[in-house]
Amino acid sequence: MKKLIVGNFKMNTTVKEFAVYLDKFLPKVKDSKSDVVLCLPYTHLMLASQKLVSTEVNFGSQNISIDTSGAHTGEVSANMVKDLGATYTIIGHSEIRKRFKETNEQVNQKIINALGVNLKVILCIGETKTEKNANKTAAVLKKQIDIALKGLYENELKNIIIAYEPCWAIGTGNVASSKDIENAVKTIRKVIEEDFSEKAAEKMLVLYGGSTKLENFNSILKVKGVNGLLVGGACLDADVFAKMV
Ligand code: PGA
Repeated sequence: MKKLIVGNFKMNTTVKEFAVYLDKFLPKVKDSKSDVVLCLPYTHLMLASQKLVSTEVNFGSQNISIDTSGAHTGEVSANMVKDLGATYTIIGHSEIRKRFKETNEQVNQKIINALGVNLKVILCIGETKTEKNANKTAAVLKKQIDIALKGLYENELKNIIIAYEPCWAIGTGNVASSKDIENAVKTIRKVIEEDFSEKAAEKMLVLYGGSTKLENFNSILKVKGVNGLLVGGACLDADVFAKMV
């Protein structure tokens, strides 16, 4: 099965710099064996829609509004993202959960909005260092999944991808161990099985994210149950990311 490699640009690059990036990146991933998604700043989506239309590379946003339209200054709706040809959105990234105190209930509403316009969702979950040290990882992941996917029908899960991103591994250089990743992925599938079905758990795509780079990505992709990666910092170098793809 093809691996899914997602790049999360976060708040990096201008549109001009992104254009240069694509000129370098696209020829290198033309015959790639993986599925590729670039999750971009909203400002980059228009250029992505023009440059990626005839390629195999998909793109999406890094967040969407909890609202669908109206007087919400500074917000961007799922529909606006979809309108530009995006097919994915990240939801529940720990940087947003932390800075904006985004709750699991808000993550759930955003997922409902995204699915409503046919955007695929990359749902980020993961424990903090304190939670890990207190052996609460499994409980935290369960709660995040239970609430985020509340009210969804099983057939909607084909548009959900879960990214296990331990907060303490994001942008820190501290990658989770293979054992930790394997355990987390097992927990995730167990929760999906309890909430939906065994079949749904088997089919669920699960990514790992957190300090992935050239030196470690191969061994992470070999961890049982891992279907791909959510790459932050390392995706900003077109050569490096193309190699990972
Ligand atoms: P990182 O970020 O690869 O820079 O650790 C991953 C992410 O936040 O998605």
